[in-house]
Parts: sequence; C-alpha cells; structure tokens
Amino acid sequence: MAIPEEFIQELKNKTDIVDVVSSYVRLKKAGRNMLGLCPFHNEKTPSFTVSADKNFFHCFGCGAGGDVISFIRRIENLDYVDAIKFLAQRAGLEVPEGQRNEGLTRLRNRIYEANREAARFYHKCLYSPEGKKALDYLRGRGLTEKTIIHFGLGYSPSSRFELVNYLRDKGFTGTELIQANLANESKNGNPYDRFSDRVMFPIIDLRGNVIAFGGRIMSDIKPKYLNTSDTPAFNKSKNLFALQLAKNQAKGQLILVEGYMDVIALHQAGFENTVATLGTALTTEQANIIRKYCDEIVICYDADEAGQKASARAIDILRQTGVKIKVLTVPNGKDPDEFIKSHGENGPARFRLLLDKCGNDIEYRLAKLRLKYDLEDTRQKVDFLTEAAKIFAGLENDIEKDAYIVNLAEELHIDKNAIMNQVAKYVRKNQYEARQQQQRKMYHSSSGQDNIINPEKSYHLKAANAEEALLAILLTHPDAAAQISRQLPADKFITSFNRKVYETIQKRAEQNLGTDASDISGEFSIDENNCIHRIVFSRLRENDPFRAAQNYIAILEEENQKLSPEQIARSDEQTLMEQLQKMREKKK
Ligand code: GTP
Ligand code: MN
Repeated sequence: MAIPEEFIQELKNKTDIVDVVSSYVRLKKAGRNMLGLCPFHNEKTPSFTVSADKNFFHCFGCGAGGDVISFIRRIENLDYVDAIKFLAQRAGLEVPEGQRNEGLTRLRNRIYEANREAARFYHKCLYSPEGKKALDYLRGRGLTEKTIIHFGLGYSPSSRFELVNYLRDKGFTGTELIQANLANESKNGNPYDRFSDRVMFPIIDLRGNVIAFGGRIMSDIKPKYLNTSDTPAFNKSKNLFALQLAKNQAKGQLILVEGYMDVIALHQAGFENTVATLGTALTTEQANIIRKYCDEIVICYDADEAGQKASARAIDILRQTGVKIKVLTVPNGKDPDEFIKSHGENGPARFRLLLDKCGNDIEYRLAKLRLKYDLEDTRQKVDFLTEAAKIFAGLENDIEKDAYIVNLAEELHIDKNAIMNQVAKYVRKNQYEARQQQQRKMYHSSSGQDNIINPEKSYHLKAANAEEALLAILLTHPDAAAQISRQLPADKFITSFNRKVYETIQKRAEQNLGTDASDISGEFSIDENNCIHRIVFSRLRENDPFRAAQNYIAILEEENQKLSPEQIARSDEQTLMEQLQKMREKKK
C-alpha cells in the first residue's frame, strides 16, 4: 500500500464514524449504538447500527459491515486509496505524497480520457455525411440544435473499426478500449467498436467525466438501446442520467423519468431538473443520491403497466430516504417525451399543469387502489379499507398516518378507530416479518449457503467454521495474532479465501503492523471486507483466546488429515465447476 500506515492510523483516530455516516443516514440513538435505515438495502424498519466505541457499522438486515473506510468505499463507490483521500479531505489532512495515483485510479482516468475522446468523435460523426440520417432522426424527434449540442449527442458509424482506430491513433491501447467497454473483443483477441450505427447519448458524472454511453438504434433491430456495461469507471446503479445538469436547476425538486429521450425532451421544454435511471430499476444508491440534491422528487414513469410497477418500487425505495414524493401520471398511455411532443408548442405548459396538480405517493397509491373497488358495496368497501390500512402501516410519520386515516374515515363514514386498529395490526405484522427476515439472513450467512466470496466453504463446512473462529480470534487479539501466526503454517487453512486472510495477518504480524479487521481492509475488496466483518461480528469474544485458538487449530489439523491429495484436487475442481456454472447463469 502506497499510503503510510501511520497516516491511516492518524486518519482513523481523527475520524468519527457516527459523524461520517450521519451525512448519509439519519441516525437515532439506541442504547450505546446509533440506529438508522440501511443505505445498502431496501428496508422499512431500521436495522443498520453504528458503534462509535467499536468504530464499525453493521446491518442486521443485509449483513453489510465494516469500518469507516469500508463505509465510504461502499457508499461513494471508491477504491481503498480514494476512500482514504476522501476521508482525509473531510478531516482536513493532507495525504502524504507517494505513488498513490496507481492501479485502479490510473485505469479509471484512462477510461475517462478515452470516453471523452469517444464522445467528441461521435459528436463529429453526427455532422458527417454518414451521420446525416442520425441528425435527421434527432431533428425528427423534435430536438433543436441547441439541445443536441447541450447533451453532446452523437452518432456511432456502422463500420466496426472507426472508433477503435481513431482512439488507437490517440495513444489508447486495445486493452484500455475493451476495459472502457468502448470496444468488444473478437474471438482472436482484437478490439472492435461496441457501438455501431446508433444515436449516442453520453453519460456524464457530477465531476464532468464522461463515464458511459447509451446508444439507440434507429430501426426495429433489438436491442433498442445498448448501454455501456459496468466498467472500473462506471456503475449503472450508482449514477443518474443528466444529474450533472439537473442538480443546479433543482431548487429543491427533481423529476425522475425512465428514458434518455424523456430527460432530453423535458430539459428542452424547460424542465431542466429532470433525471433518469440508466435502463435499470431505481436502486437504493440512486435514491440516496437523489435525496442529496432535492427535498421533493416527482416520479414520472411511463403510463404502461411496466412503468406503473416500476413507480411502485421506486416509491418504496425513495420513501426510506425521507424525501417528499409526488407521482405524475401522463394521460393516454404516453411517455413524457411523447406527451410534450403531441401538444406541439403548448407541450411545456400542458406538462406544467400536470406537474402542479400531481399528488403525493400515498394519494397516488390510494387512487390506484380505489379504482379496483366499488365503494358503494359494503363488502368491497371493507376490502378497500383493509388494503388502505396496509399502505398506511408503511408510513413512518405518525402525524401523517393519522391525517390520512382521519380523512378516509370521514369520507367513507367509518369510525377512525376501526381503521387505526387495523393499521396497528399491520405495523406489528411488518415488524415481525422484518425480524424473521433478519434471522434468516443471519442463518444463511453463517451456514455458508450464499457465500460467494468463499465458495469452498460449503464443501468444507467444519474446517471453514474452525478457520473463521480462529480468524475472529486473530483479528480481535493482536497478541494472539503475533504468536499463532508464527506457530501455524498457512497451508493448514483448507479454504482459499480464509487462507488469504490468514496470510495477510501473518505478513502484517511479521512486520509488526496492526492486524485487526480494519487494519487489513486495504488488501481486500468491498465484498471480501464484508465477509471478514461478518467473520468477526458473528462471534462472541472468547474468554481465553489462546485456549480456544488451540482447539480450532486441532480441528484444522484433524480436517487436514481427512483430506487426501486427490480429495483436495477433486474439491477444487468441484468448486471451479460450480463457479463456472454460476458465471454461465449470470451471463444468460
Ligand atoms: P424512445 O423509444 O427512444 O423514446 O425510448 P424511451 O426513452 O421512451 O425508452 P423506453 O421507455 O423504451 O425505455 C426507457 C429506458 O430504458 C431507455 O432510455 C433505456 O435506458 C432503457 N432501455 C430501453 N430499451 C432498452 C434495451 O433494449 N436495452 C437496454 N439495456 N436498455 C433499454
Ligand atoms: Mn419514448
């Protein structure tokens, strides 16, 4: 690691985890810890805890956990070194100069540069003879010259080599272009343009880097949109299209739509506070970003069934951030772009009317529900109220909850207490289910069933559990780490992930460096760190760590005896086959 150990220690001492986490999550005091809604998964009852004394966070719902650096890596999507820089800046510390701009950071910068050049190239092609049909297409969709330039739209030529050749001339290697996902790799290893004969939409992050592209075909060929896959510089679930433009126009409100064209049409119509997800359902990370830039979000998805389902999901996710939600439904099954266009020069004014009269998320859900029932019929009225009670049960704010109940009770001439009792019942049910789910998650993580980081665990459960118990001791008792790592050779560890953790502890103990979970975290990925956190977290502190350690070492010796060399080879093969199978399924 290029950053000196002492600096990292100083940074950790100066950084208060509660303080850092509080800028992302609303935390309340709960005993000695702080409690809030987990920013890494979708939940309604808080199971995300932060311990100031122990300097870590842990979510009982999804199992995420680690130290303050791990938290920043995850939530800001940074690598270890960048997370340190981020925290250093926050703490007002200067990261000591060294070769810190290396590896991933360097690659990322190369990808930004390649993407920027590619965006210029595509834009130029739009105004070439070959690009004429793309330019006509965009004009035909009602875009002005100014809009085309404002969004940096472009055209990718149909030959599969133009961009690759152009960027190679600029000094980019084939490997870099493949890593940027600007090129695909042919069977014999040569790069060729990923995007061909498409209208190109550059995707730009908040710092102005071109991080990805969306490309739309101009015919009926599938897929209609081809997007950049995730790269070291791009994660589609952590970015929003046009946020770099919208954030300055937000004035407290953002509009969320489904498609690139919806964003562009709305910006052109004067609604420059519009953003879109990048071809996927809204994620928790995106919801948290939205929350940072506005107090009110207007969801304006397509009126078709898929769009309405996506709205319901987005509402659930956005609710947890505490942002105020409104839902705008465009009439006649149109999407926002079509709606604006169909009203010609009145488009913007008509959209403004829709925006001004749209209701909040609860009103939206109640209105949808209402359509399903005949409220003159007593039986159906009861059913409607029961469903409505479920919606109210999800409300965190008691005043809001009461207000809706009172309104509905008056309107339907029902005793408000009856509705309140029903709501209370659902609240209890939700809490019960959340606890059940938590317990199931904890069980799964300790039985190794969903352990992707250590896939060998399920074949060597006994050994792996002993390894983990031993690691937990080493990671919490530095004196034990020093002594045991001299006594026990690393090859006694049967599963390779646990062995890697052990070797890291060994290496650091030898150099007299710290060996707790946070000390070793720089050597591991976010997911690996999470696994390490769980190894420590799920175990109680041993009263006599040395004796307990001897016990686990004995189990390991025994399990090693049981494994003949052929068995070891076979289980490695089995694991490999399984991983391949998983990769294949993922690709499908
Ligand atoms: P237009 O037909 O150009 O108006 O598209 P749209 O913006 O109305 O898009 P649509 O509602 O069909 O889809 C919404 C968004 O989903 C698009 O902007 C894309 O980000 C994404 N999307 C649509 N089709 C595809 C596809 O075939 N593949 C992928 N990966 N994403 C798609
Ligand atoms: Mn559309």
